[in-house]
Amino acid sequence: MFPRGADIRLVRGHLEVYEPCDDSFALVDALLADRGNLVNHQARFCMEIGCGSGYVTTSLAIILGKENSGIHYFTRDINPHATRVTQRTLYAHGVHAEVINTDIASRLQKRLVGMMDVIVVNPPYVPTPEEEVNCEGITSSWVGGYNGCTVIDKIFPVVDELLSDTTWLYMVTLTTKNPSEICLVIRRKVYASRIVLQRSTEEESLHVIKFWREGVDDVRDKDIMSSSLDLGS
Ligand SMILES: C[S@@+](CC[C@H](N)C(=O)[O-])C[C@H]1O[C@@H](n2cnc3c(N)ncnc32)[C@H](O)[C@@H]1O
Repeated sequence: MFPRGADIRLVRGHLEVYEPCDDSFALVDALLADRGNLVNHQARFCMEIGCGSGYVTTSLAIILGKENSGIHYFTRDINPHATRVTQRTLYAHGVHAEVINTDIASRLQKRLVGMMDVIVVNPPYVPTPEEEVNCEGITSSWVGGYNGCTVIDKIFPVVDELLSDTTWLYMVTLTTKNPSEICLVIRRKVYASRIVLQRSTEEESLHVIKFWREGVDDVRDKDIMSSSLDLGS
């Protein structure tokens, strides 16, 4: 039996930091569901965009564990409280990552361009007035701007820079955002996609979508063979 992620009792918290919630658990369960592919992927560099408490990156490192012990992890968040809490969560689990306090939209260090093998993101997706975007602290966890898409729209240009031909991106989205429509839009940007997990909670219905660059046939074949799996909440 392989480890199922971070120990929630060791995940650190702060009033101004997003506490792991249904969407965080759905993302980690999607990574677990795709674990076989992830282990075979032999990633060297993984990044989380918007790390909050650090629960997801810590879980990914634990899920990939011994088979992939040479992976270098990066996490980024616009909220300085979140990057501090993430450092404490990582430390509590004996996981090492490079934690960066920065906006998704800011320029990446050149050394990271085209380097990432796996990117995970649980973005703020609640539709809000546009002027609320860029609020500080805990508000940045959920403020999604017009149609809930403003922050998501910032992610793809950055991901474009980070992506190598074999990068896999896992992203949480609300079902009301019409995941098939998102997949179509992304497809036009030459990404292929697959829904790894669907889950309904009392409050919302979530999807975790996996994206990769179109035309990487071996990745697609592996994906067709692996089944989508909902581990339940
Ligand atoms: C829904 S929370 C997810 C937190 C954590 N990944 C999880 O799943 O529990 C979204 C996170 O994205 C961060 N965030 C929002 N806008 C951002 C931006 N422009 N750049 C970087 N991080 C951002 C927030 O501060 C917050 O920590």
